Amino acid sequence: MCSPLHMTIMSLRNCCRFPITSYSIHLPNGNGCARLWRRIEARSVVVFGLTPSTPRSQWICGTPAQEYSRFGVKAEDLKSVPEGIEGLHFHALCEQNSDTLERLLAVIKKKFGNLLSQVKWVNFGGGQLITGPEYDIDRLCRIIADFRREYAVDVYMEPGQAVGFNAGILLSTVLEMVRNEIEIAILDTSPFAHIPDILNAPYKPDIIGGGKPNQFKNTYRLASRSCLSGDIIGDYSFPQPLHRGSRIMFSDMASYCAVSNNFFNGIPLPAIAILTKSNDVRIVRQFGYMDYEARLS
Ligand SMILES: Cc1ncc(COP(=O)(O)O)c(C=O)c1O
Repeated sequence: MCSPLHMTIMSLRNCCRFPITSYSIHLPNGNGCARLWRRIEARSVVVFGLTPSTPRSQWICGTPAQEYSRFGVKAEDLKSVPEGIEGLHFHALCEQNSDTLERLLAVIKKKFGNLLSQVKWVNFGGGQLITGPEYDIDRLCRIIADFRREYAVDVYMEPGQAVGFNAGILLSTVLEMVRNEIEIAILDTSPFAHIPDILNAPYKPDIIGGGKPNQFKNTYRLASRSCLSGDIIGDYSFPQPLHRGSRIMFSDMASYCAVSNNFFNGIPLPAIAILTKSNDVRIVRQFGYMDYEARLS
């Protein structure tokens, strides 16, 4: 038997068949909801978008609980646990500590408390930065233990970003220096192609050895070599001047960066390499022009 897989999806195509034992689907409200349950025999219902979370509030893409959210079922539309449903799932956080989870659970209990003891499990979703330096694990353990005791349910969590938090370095090279009132370094890294969150979020990646503008003696605008005018990483400063060939290391690039990059205008993707404990570099994947072309035709 497969172990339960909690899967989140807004809609399924007819061709989908899943050899898994437990589903967790973001179910839209209304008739579509019932249709989906029948089609895939979902075993859980998602309560999503139920309370304003306090994530990076400007980051609308990463804010699950926002006005007019397309996710989940509202409390007023879920008076009882539908037949065949064995779990409840919520996901309303983004990069949060366990104090926010605790506040969120208070709302869940208030809104869905009557349903919680009718299910076998509750999935607390993602957005929980359990590997972050400030994360209070003890409080999380207490929260989970109390919740399990109170409702006699299993508890699942599905942190994503936390798994690769602060892992992965994107090594970039200065290709050219340009001056237009300010100093601009043109890199072989493109936010649009390699770090889309810079343009979507907004988000500014950390650079190892670099700082905020004017924090160090030499301030530069770092930008891409693509044709897109706004393909700009941001302004940073460095103890040493940058020049053609300087290397820049962006940190925390393993998680969402790795899954959201693309071949915009044929800009090459960086190779993926492992730096071993003995300081050897082993290249595990390289991308070439044919990878780009293969996606176009
Ligand atoms: C339902 C669900 N669970 C977990 C995650 C992972 O979230 P994070 O990477 O912020 O921990 C997401 C991300 O969108 C999600 O939609």
